[in-house]
Amino acid sequence: MCGIGHIPVLPNEVLDALSPSDGDVIVDLTAGRGGHASMLAKQCAPSNVILFDLDAQNLSFASTRLERETSIKPICFHANFATAAQTMSKQGLKADVLLADLGFASNQMDEPERGLSFLREGPLDMRLNQSSGRTAATIVNEYSEQELADLIFTKGEDPFSRQIARKIVSERAKEPILSTTRLANVVRDAYGSKARASRMNPATRTFMALRIAVNDELMALDALLHDVEASCRKGAEGWLQPDARVGVISFHSLEDRKVKQSFTALEKAGLATRLNRKPIQATDEEVASNPRARPAKFRAMRVLHASS
Ligand SMILES: C[S@@+](CC[C@H](N)C(=O)[O-])C[C@H]1O[C@@H](n2cnc3c(N)ncnc32)[C@H](O)[C@@H]1O
Repeated sequence: MCGIGHIPVLPNEVLDALSPSDGDVIVDLTAGRGGHASMLAKQCAPSNVILFDLDAQNLSFASTRLERETSIKPICFHANFATAAQTMSKQGLKADVLLADLGFASNQMDEPERGLSFLREGPLDMRLNQSSGRTAATIVNEYSEQELADLIFTKGEDPFSRQIARKIVSERAKEPILSTTRLANVVRDAYGSKARASRMNPATRTFMALRIAVNDELMALDALLHDVEASCRKGAEGWLQPDARVGVISFHSLEDRKVKQSFTALEKAGLATRLNRKPIQATDEEVASNPRARPAKFRAMRVLHASS
């Protein structure tokens, strides 16, 4: 991984399901460090590779990597994939292969100044797009106790959400909570003696909830799934080609549930075929060499336009 900062998960499974072919337009909605995009592009002679990412640095890294490894100059959009359908349609672009590998890349987690890791001292930022939007510090210091408890419960599924929210509110009254390690300590204190019994770091779920909220991750996924469905209904007028393959890799159950429901509904409506009934997960061998792959769940489908 050295220098690249992220190992793509489920590489063979993604290639198999999305089966890129010569002339395809390959769209990677979460370019990251360019691992999946480069791998998909090397598999065929695409007519275009299109990259999206909220993170300008990752987008630029992925673009340079793709050009270096495949001699293809990708079309890049520093944008949320929630806007992909609109952006692609405006440019007259249609996807044959569409991939979303959700969440954050390892290099982002490893950079303390992004504030994504409770193990590294850094500012409570958590924005994937560092040029806009509110930070985690704003949420932690400005939400009411009830709003914090709801957030940590609904997006982090933490059973101690109320205790954590109460502790945050009492601690921030002394001094605003502005760093990752201070928040991690506050959460640990809220867990009290239960912290020792917890298999994961007590801060894990609170940090996940905040990251999801800061980056509006569930809203973006909803918008994407809505636009995929709309394209399937529009047939040839849509932004997905007849026969397009769509894949989503998710890292927590809230996301996987949404993808499952959407793909199942499209199949029931006769607009798509699911390429796997159960989510594809990493083998023990992959997890041993890339522990980040452990929670990954991959679902894929093929568009069935009326005209196809
Ligand atoms: C798991 S990484 C992708 C890694 C990539 N597949 C690779 O092989 O290097 C996720 C990337 O998606 C970006 N991202 C997350 N949510 C996004 C969104 N809603 N729109 C665009 N990019 C997003 C993150 O900034 C990050 O770079």
